[in-house]
Amino acid sequence: MIPWEVLAESTAPDGQAMTLSRRGHEYLIRVGGWDLMSSRDDVSARALASIGCAALGPRHGRPLRVLVGGLGMGYSVAAALEAVPADAEVEVAELVPAVIEWNRGPLASLAGAPLADPRARVLEGDVAEIIAAAEPGRWDAILLDVDNGPDPLAHDQNSALYGVGGLRAAHRALRPGGVHAVWSYSREGSFSRALERAGFEAKVHPVANHGRDRGRTHAIWVGRRRDGAGKQAKRGPVKGRERGPGRR
Ligand SMILES: C[S@@+](CC[C@H](N)C(=O)[O-])C[C@H]1O[C@@H](n2cnc3c(N)ncnc32)[C@H](O)[C@@H]1O
Repeated sequence: MIPWEVLAESTAPDGQAMTLSRRGHEYLIRVGGWDLMSSRDDVSARALASIGCAALGPRHGRPLRVLVGGLGMGYSVAAALEAVPADAEVEVAELVPAVIEWNRGPLASLAGAPLADPRARVLEGDVAEIIAAAEPGRWDAILLDVDNGPDPLAHDQNSALYGVGGLRAAHRALRPGGVHAVWSYSREGSFSRALERAGFEAKVHPVANHGRDRGRTHAIWVGRRRDGAGKQAKRGPVKGRERGPGRR
């Protein structure tokens, strides 16, 4: 068995220790002693962007703009860049400065150096704050993979992104017909209902995992913004957020 080699260490903004390690061809980012992202989990990370972008409706004469939440190892950004036209913009929000630095260094070649693409722009910060501060209708698609999905574990504050308040903020930040796609470790739970309540038409796409959790099915939730959904969105709390063991 090849031993893990620690390539770099850092601290997340919430104080948790982070490491970047390599074992042969496999790379791993750990936070607070838990696995955050492995290069063996590339399939569902790419599927988030390919499925999310495929759900986009017709363009209305202006370039597409996509937000990816969570850079990780760059697979979702790379797949988004593959899915959108030459005049599109792909913004990527990343909380941890070291992850951005690692993607420009030792991780760059894993997903084909997506940050070197002139259509890509990194926004350093919390994606929840970036979405909340955005002008209404900024993006055609938001592709979210910051944690384990609707049952976030790595950063506790991420749970707000998956609650109805966070989903309504995403709704506001999307153009009519826009897509909010969310990666999830598990396809169990009531997240479709939360999306519906926030004004989206919800669909869940199972994605077979070929990486460390071989045999396990991850999920990509796709919420398509209903036109005039601000009026249609049902108000009230959403109960029964999904529970599951999480990515780690
Ligand atoms: C599981 S990884 C994403 C994997 C990515 N889809 C890929 O293709 O490699 C989660 C990423 O989200 C970042 N993150 C976690 N919480 C965040 C937040 N609130 N805002 C922005 N980025 C966040 C983590 O630092 C990490 O880089």
